[in-house]
Amino acid sequence: ASGIADNLLLTTYLSARCPVAVAPAMDLDMYAHEATQQNLRTLARRGVHIVEPGEGELASGLQGKGRMAEPDAIAAFVGGLLREKKKSLAGKRLIVTAGATIEAIDPVRFISNHSSGKMGYAIAGELADRGACVTLVTGRTELPTPAGVERVDVLSAAEMYDAAVRAFEGSDGAVMCAAVADYTPADYHDDKVKKKDGDLSIPVERTPDILGTIGPQKTHQFLCGFSMETKDLVENSSAKLAKKNLDMVVANNLKGAGAGFGVDTNVVTFITPDGTRELPLMSKADVADAILDEILKRRSL
Ligand code: PMT
Repeated sequence: ASGIADNLLLTTYLSARCPVAVAPAMDLDMYAHEATQQNLRTLARRGVHIVEPGEGELASGLQGKGRMAEPDAIAAFVGGLLREKKKSLAGKRLIVTAGATIEAIDPVRFISNHSSGKMGYAIAGELADRGACVTLVTGRTELPTPAGVERVDVLSAAEMYDAAVRAFEGSDGAVMCAAVADYTPADYHDDKVKKKDGDLSIPVERTPDILGTIGPQKTHQFLCGFSMETKDLVENSSAKLAKKNLDMVVANNLKGAGAGFGVDTNVVTFITPDGTRELPLMSKADVADAILDEILKRRSL
């Protein structure tokens, strides 16, 4: 309350921008003292949440009010504070795409990529935790559906395009994390293509660009795309921001350690019309959290 910061806990508190809860614990007379009570009132006025101490036997052997609240009660209180923050997207409808698309050549073979869906699923889960109504348009993955998320399974880029464009109508925004194939075989063979002597060429054609379609059409929606590069990350990703009329691009370099496909971590750079912000190596859950914080900082959805 007086701003003295001579230990790790208090320096942390003075720097904290998150909700803060304090659970006072001391002997009954100390707790009842006007100095303590005034300090608690000062903290409460500044927005600090007070978890009241319990009554009962104290360390001194005396009986009274001053026992630290039960750890379970403190944990439940803090959980409540976090949920309050997280329900900030209640009533909003968001679309997330995740995972890899599969472009069939014949009943046996396909063209795809290494996306596991982890990054997109983390975003969908975080959005649902914050109270949003989420449609997750997903390529094939092994991942369980995050709690509270509506999941639409697709295989090809064309199927993902149909599902995502349909869901985007009437939504408040989208985060497009899927690794969508840019090319698909021009012809699908109903029967297995038989092996012959010599080489084989498979003609491919462009797939429909989901972001390239909804970007120019968007009205009030917030549109966040991803960008996967192996070189010139910022330059190439900034070009996507303008070309696809996006509000934000989350760029990742597949060659960075701990970044990209399959792993539980990522290293991303946020690119917005205002500039770029590099984030350190983080878990995909924390990256998802940071993306949503950045979106909400830029726009109330
Ligand atoms: O799934 P994980 O294993 O966790 O890996 C995460 C990830 C590496 C797949 C993810 O972090 C990521 O980078 N996703 C975007 C992959 C990608 O396709 O990037 P791109 O630069 O090729 O495409 C740019 C944007 O256009 C992306 O938002 C993409 O979803 C979108 N796109 C691409 C092609 C297409 N036909 N339609 C699209 O909308």
